[in-house]
Amino acid sequence: KKKEKMIFRCQSCGHQTLQWMGKCPGCSDWDTLVAEKIENSPAAGAKFSRPRSAPVPMDAITFDEEPRMSTQIAEFDRVLGGGIVAGTLILIGGDPGIGKSTLMLQVLSRIAEQGKKALYVSGEESIRQLKMRGMRLSSGASTMLVAAETDLDTIISMAESEKPHVMVVDSIQTVYNPEMASTPGSVNQIREASIRLMNMAKQSGIPLFLVGHVTKVGAIAGPRIMEHMVDTVLYFEGDRSHVFRILRAVKNRFGSTNEIGVFEMKEKGLQEVPNPSAVFLEERSVNAPGSVVTASMEGTRPILIEIQGLASSSGFGNPRRTVLGLDPNRVALIAAVMEKRLGINLSGLDIFMNVTGGVKVVEPAVDLGVAVALASSFLDIPVPEGTTVIGEIGLTGEIRAAGHVEARIKEAAKMGFARCIVPANSLKQLPAMKDIIIEGTTSLKHVMETLF
Ligand code: TYD
Ligand code: MG
Repeated sequence: KKKEKMIFRCQSCGHQTLQWMGKCPGCSDWDTLVAEKIENSPAAGAKFSRPRSAPVPMDAITFDEEPRMSTQIAEFDRVLGGGIVAGTLILIGGDPGIGKSTLMLQVLSRIAEQGKKALYVSGEESIRQLKMRGMRLSSGASTMLVAAETDLDTIISMAESEKPHVMVVDSIQTVYNPEMASTPGSVNQIREASIRLMNMAKQSGIPLFLVGHVTKVGAIAGPRIMEHMVDTVLYFEGDRSHVFRILRAVKNRFGSTNEIGVFEMKEKGLQEVPNPSAVFLEERSVNAPGSVVTASMEGTRPILIEIQGLASSSGFGNPRRTVLGLDPNRVALIAAVMEKRLGINLSGLDIFMNVTGGVKVVEPAVDLGVAVALASSFLDIPVPEGTTVIGEIGLTGEIRAAGHVEARIKEAAKMGFARCIVPANSLKQLPAMKDIIIEGTTSLKHVMETLF
């Protein structure tokens, strides 16, 4: 009997090796290599498996905007880049229990309410459970179809016979091809299912959402390889102990990747949050040392966020640096600049930084917010009420220009802030604005003297 060939595949990134190793050479994760038989997809000749395509003359290609299907949920449409493009494969990842199934059920219901056929295939719940959830979400259009199914071939033929306008498979980890030896949820099965479902979507034009569970920060469970295959990758994130959920595009062939959609998890499902600034500032305690409001650009939208800093004397040993929602390297850099340029001695102190509401901000324009929050905590003096700050900090303690300053100031004014400190270099492009006092600054030292 011919000896069966074995390979080892990383369950995290899909990397293959011929020998077992403790650490994956592909992604450096430990203990993720699993033995598998080399096998060909037995369904290789099946329907939808081979894309039919032929070359076309280049000058015959037109630039008609792809028609997009609106979900009637503005926050969702915006993240997709203006609605759903036909034939696209969209991966929606997130922690278990964060609300992926709820979101997708709501999205499909809204599409079904427009008289379009929507098919929701779940491998996680029975149709009775789906119905119960649907009732809670008050979704009841007759064009909304649900199926509890995990068999890949059955799901594909279901799509073929029903020809829905849009389809969801929840979750990709539950779908499998029983003719293959690998277990459901293994990289082999997930890859097989993804490829076949992708071909189905491309050839039929049915937009398809694949739900995927995330096991650890920033990685879709098992196969990061899927991220390369799909057109769009959305993450549904948030802190389970908070009610806010943020939908973020991390890859999008048909739109920008920095738009976010904000939702609130309610008793009757997810609700859009059209004005995130108000929501993120809701619980802010005015006049508390260590807190400041800044404006961060999320895609085309300015959003006001509260940055909190706490500098407290350390026990013994190495002082702690705990940073949530911000880039820790950036915080370390800002702390070093404060130490050197302002003479604020932070090196022996524990530093904690947080952005409230579970939001993550990465742009440099929030630097000044970080410095002001830390200084406010260090000095134990609150930032004057009604004041916001915007600006990037350079290594010499200079305040550098930021983009979209006008939009940010307008958002601050809209939310009732009376004063905004911005980089002096950004002042030039600004039109006159009423309702808010705008002060230009060139140095961190000057900002500290003004505020404290
Ligand atoms: P779910 O969509 O099942 O999460 P996922 O598919 O990402 O695993 O969401 C589950 C959580 O959402 C659960 O803890 C209950 C809560 N929830 C509500 O608060 N309101 C609702 O209307 C629904 C349907 C769920
Ligand atoms: Mg689910």
